[in-house]
Amino acid sequence: MKEVKIESVLQVYDDLDELPENIIDLMHQAMKAREKAYAPYSKFSVGAALLLDNDGVVTGNNQENASYPSGLCAERTAIYYAGAKFPGVKILRMAIVAGSKLKQTVSPIPPCGACRQAIAEYEVKQDAPIEIYFMGETGKVVKSESLANLLPLVFDKSVL
Ligand code: THU
Repeated sequence: MKEVKIESVLQVYDDLDELPENIIDLMHQAMKAREKAYAPYSKFSVGAALLLDNDGVVTGNNQENASYPSGLCAERTAIYYAGAKFPGVKILRMAIVAGSKLKQTVSPIPPCGACRQAIAEYEVKQDAPIEIYFMGETGKVVKSESLANLLPLVFDKSVL
């Protein structure tokens, strides 16, 4: 038997203002997208903004459903739209902002496991990292230089 240690390195910023202008701008687009989230059941709204290699930005937000599992997270709404509309264009980064209407969300909210798996698919497909930035309504911002940092031991096409 041998033990294997898995480590991920993330960057944590105290405030959005510490980041470069272009990242602040992308996060603002995620905030705008979040305002249009359809989250009547959880009251937890999420916005995501993707920067593409053609300088285009694709945004998405969570879309809930009375049949709860039929809803979709913001990250997947955005990345599937990018995949559908711009299939050959690389995704450079994703900014995510999330928070509850029931309480103030001041800690960074990472993408859920299903969204990490979905984002990983595109990172593997394009063979280039997708930077991820995530935050709550205010406060710290976490940066991951690649989705892979957030999903060690990924299941991908190499095993099929
Ligand atoms: N949600 C997202 O949009 N992204 C995530 O990564 C986690 C959760 C949404 C799904 C649901 O509409 C609400 O947040 C509460 O789970």
